[in-house]
Amino acid sequence: MKQIRIQLRERSYDIKIANNLLSQVGKELATYDLSPNCLLVTNPLVYKFYGKQVLDSLTEVGFNTKLALVDDGEEAKSLKWVARLYDQALDAGLDRKSPIIALGGGVVGDLAGFVAATYMRGVPFIQVPTTLLAQVDSSVGGKVAVNHPKGKNLVGAFYQPKLVLADLNTLKTLPSRELKSGLAEVIKYGVIWDKEFFTYLENHIEEALALNDKVLEVIIAKSCAIKAAIVEQDEKENNLRAILNFGHTFGHAYEALTNFNTYRHGEAVAIGMIEATKFAHTKGLTTRELLQRLERLLAKINLELKPKQTFLPEEILKVIKLDKKNKAGKIQLILPLKLGKVTNFSVVPAELVNYLQN
Ligand SMILES: NC(=O)c1ccc[n+]([C@@H]2O[C@H](COP(=O)([O-])OP(=O)(O)OC[C@H]3O[C@@H](n4cnc5c(N)ncnc54)[C@H](O)[C@@H]3O)[C@@H](O)[C@H]2O)c1
Repeated sequence: MKQIRIQLRERSYDIKIANNLLSQVGKELATYDLSPNCLLVTNPLVYKFYGKQVLDSLTEVGFNTKLALVDDGEEAKSLKWVARLYDQALDAGLDRKSPIIALGGGVVGDLAGFVAATYMRGVPFIQVPTTLLAQVDSSVGGKVAVNHPKGKNLVGAFYQPKLVLADLNTLKTLPSRELKSGLAEVIKYGVIWDKEFFTYLENHIEEALALNDKVLEVIIAKSCAIKAAIVEQDEKENNLRAILNFGHTFGHAYEALTNFNTYRHGEAVAIGMIEATKFAHTKGLTTRELLQRLERLLAKINLELKPKQTFLPEEILKVIKLDKKNKAGKIQLILPLKLGKVTNFSVVPAELVNYLQN
């Protein structure tokens, strides 16, 4: 087992990464001061694979669990589902010490976390992430949110979980496309923070894709440790935390321009990282070698390096201009300088259009 502690004073918590953690959820929760009524939020697919194991482990130690099954897919991250979960929490008699447990990918985690942050002004929240993306990214760091018809993640909070339990066994049923999408975020951590980790990935990424437990444990723990180090310094994204958005400005534009139905998030981030690195290269900020190493690593696991379709520069810019991070009419891009080091770069829209045209 690997264990990472996120140090955030009274909001500090552990992330545990190992095989067979699902059957330990109850025992782990029994060590906290919690009320016996709890809400387990998951979706039918994840429930089919893992629901019973988690339910049994909670029952074993005396929890009365109300099961809440939400729709599978991004549609579940809606205020409609938030309202339904409040109803179920009230029906189940949840009080301020009752835990809400998220069992699933980033969708379930973001939704259940938002409900936990707001029900009775906040109840204990436990993350049991079952996708690689959720294990290395969305379950860690405390961003929880649902979508608004006008945009993704527009209604949310910073709300840290009490505990994160990442069971490696759950990745065995994950479709390979989802695994690759999570690996794109893992590669991002190497570029933004840790050159040695990037080199480790160059040597072991195929083993991760083949679900080698040892390699998966290393990369999940390392990714969480990097995110922890960043979040500990800047929990609410005033400055440093923005570096986690490397690849996301372009990536999000490609997702939005294809109505979020063409790319998995990590796939778009992979293409976005290449675009940001090419831009950095044209500005003389980084080397061709870095670009080539990143391209080779992403290609090793068959992630696309450019969008499948052509977008007009103006279309891309229109989406990028809506980014919350932009300041005084300038676009903020996270660009790599060298492996393990990125910078926040301001660019005027006209210059970006010019770059995209060429
Ligand atoms: N809060 C954050 O900091 C943060 C960071 C990154 C992404 N996100 C959010 O995360 C969401 C994407 O998360 P995701 O990529 O995990 O997608 P997801 O939650 O939709 O899961 C992907 C698919 O895998 C299925 N699944 C989950 N676990 C499985 C398993 N073990 N075996 C088989 N199938 C399984 C799900 O049912 C779903 O169909 C987005 O809404 C995004 O906005 C949040």
